Amino acid sequence: MTSEAKSEGQPSLYSIRQCTTLVDYAACLELQRIVWQFDELDITPLRSFVITRRSGGFTLGAFDSDDRLVGFAHALAAFNTDLKPYYYSHMLAVLPEYQNAGIGVRLKLAQRDFAFRTGVPLITWTFDPLQSRNAYLNIIKLGGVIRTYYVNYYGNQSTSALHKGLDTDRLFVEWWVKSGHVTDALSGKRRTDKPEAVVDVPREMEEIKKRDMNEAREWQMRVRSAFLKYLSEGLYCAGFEADPGGGNSRYLFFKDTQAEVS
Ligand SMILES: CC(C)(COP(=O)(O)OP(=O)(O)OC[C@H]1O[C@@H](n2cnc3c(N)ncnc32)[C@H](O)[C@@H]1OP(=O)(O)O)[C@@H](O)C(=O)NCCC(=O)NCCS
Repeated sequence: MTSEAKSEGQPSLYSIRQCTTLVDYAACLELQRIVWQFDELDITPLRSFVITRRSGGFTLGAFDSDDRLVGFAHALAAFNTDLKPYYYSHMLAVLPEYQNAGIGVRLKLAQRDFAFRTGVPLITWTFDPLQSRNAYLNIIKLGGVIRTYYVNYYGNQSTSALHKGLDTDRLFVEWWVKSGHVTDALSGKRRTDKPEAVVDVPREMEEIKKRDMNEAREWQMRVRSAFLKYLSEGLYCAGFEADPGGGNSRYLFFKDTQAEVS
C-alpha cells in the first residue's frame, strides 16, 4: 500500500508493509529511541520483535521512498480469560517530522486489515489519558472504546520523556474491528447523543509539564478519580472532543451497552 504524507510542506511517498527482517527490527529500535527518548532498559529489544512474529504477533512499518522506517505498529498475539484470541498492540510510533500527516491512522488501519485476514475480532492497546492527541486518534478517528483504567500501570520507572515525573496511568482501548461503532468512526460519523458525563483533559499536556509539574500531577489525579468513578458507575468512554472551545479537550461517557461496540 502506498500513500502520500505531507510533513512540514514536503510531500513524501511512503508504503506500509510487515517488518520481517533483523534490519527492519533494528530500525524499530532506533525509532523508539527517537520518539520516546527511552533509556536502553525501556527499549523493547530486537529479540522481542523476532519472538512476537514467531508467536502469532506482527509488526507493521511505514517506509518512505528511500525505504527508511518512519513509523511502526507492533502487536502481540493474546488470549483473554475465556481463551478468545485478540491482538495486544504494544507500540505505535511515528517520527516527529512525519507526525500529524495521517501515518498513525494508516498503520492502525493496516493492523485492522491484518486482524480481518486472521479472523481476530479485537485489537487492544493502552495509552496515557493525559495525551489528548492519542485520545483523539484512538477514540474519534478509530472508534476505540474504554472500559478499563489502570493506575500506575508500569510503575514509576519509565524513562520516556513523555511520562517522566508522573505515574504511568493508562486507559485500555478496545477496538472491535468489525463493529458498526468502528465503521462509523472510520467514515467520520460522530455520536450526537448527550453524554452522561464528561472529563476535561489539557489539550497540550507537555506545556503544563514544562511549566509546573505540580499542576501536571493535579491534572493526573483529577482525571484518574473521574475515570475511576464513572467506569465504576457502569459508564464507558466512547467519545472525545479535541477542543470544544475552552482550550481543554474532554472525554465523553455513555451508558455501557456492550452490543453497541462488539
Ligand atoms: C501517536 C502517534 C503515533 C500518532 O501518529 P500520527 O501519524 O501523528 O497520527 P495521525 O496524523 O494519523 O493523526 C493524529 C491526529 O491527532 C490530531 N492532533 C494533533 N495534536 C493533537 C492534540 N493535542 N489534541 C488532539 N488532537 C491532536 C491531528 O490533527 C491528527 O488529526 P487530523 O488528521 O484529524 O488532523 C504519534 O504522534 C507518535 O508517535 N506519538 C508519540 C508516541 C505515542 O504517543 N504513541 C502512542 C502510544 S498509544
